[in-house]
Amino acid sequence: MKTSTISRTEIVKSNHDILPPHDHETQAFGLTRKHPIALDQTACNASIDDLNQLLADTMTLRDMYKKHHWQVSGPTFYPLHLLFDKHFETQVELVDQIAERVQMLGGIALAMAPDVAERTLIPRAPKGREDPSTQISRLLHAHEVILEESRAMAREATKNGDDGTNDLIVSEIIRTNEMQVWFLFMHVAQETL
Ligand SMILES: [Fe+2]
Repeated sequence: MKTSTISRTEIVKSNHDILPPHDHETQAFGLTRKHPIALDQTACNASIDDLNQLLADTMTLRDMYKKHHWQVSGPTFYPLHLLFDKHFETQVELVDQIAERVQMLGGIALAMAPDVAERTLIPRAPKGREDPSTQISRLLHAHEVILEESRAMAREATKNGDDGTNDLIVSEIIRTNEMQVWFLFMHVAQETL
């Protein structure tokens, strides 16, 4: 099946004279710059690594919300279409907060889709459309992955004296994800306990 009118090779050729050389990194991924924030390097490195994991998973959940916003179908199309986009917008804000916390600690935040795909612990969703209850259960699983790792990461940050990272994870990530789970879960929970 033909998927595009132009091939990857043609694109690479057409940009050849415009793109700068690719060997100009000023800080390699994984190297930490020491910032004057009264926090030791071991604590910063541990938080940077945890936050990049959380970032990859939050970016994956963010994109899953947009996929489901576009592809949702059936009698609940309208409310789910709106709900998925509202949750997407909130996850966009969380992504920025996590990435900027990595930079504040002197690290390099993951940014590009292939790097995110390589790192995330959330199972890959298919390209095609799924029914609303499958969409919701896939989202609930992604939230639970994030909540489970977030609680462990928050405890580690506190143990290392990194109160700022603990606060971000507890006040923003955990509380927001729990709230979004509630909104999703009520669509599929049994009426009678
Ligand atoms: Fe839209």
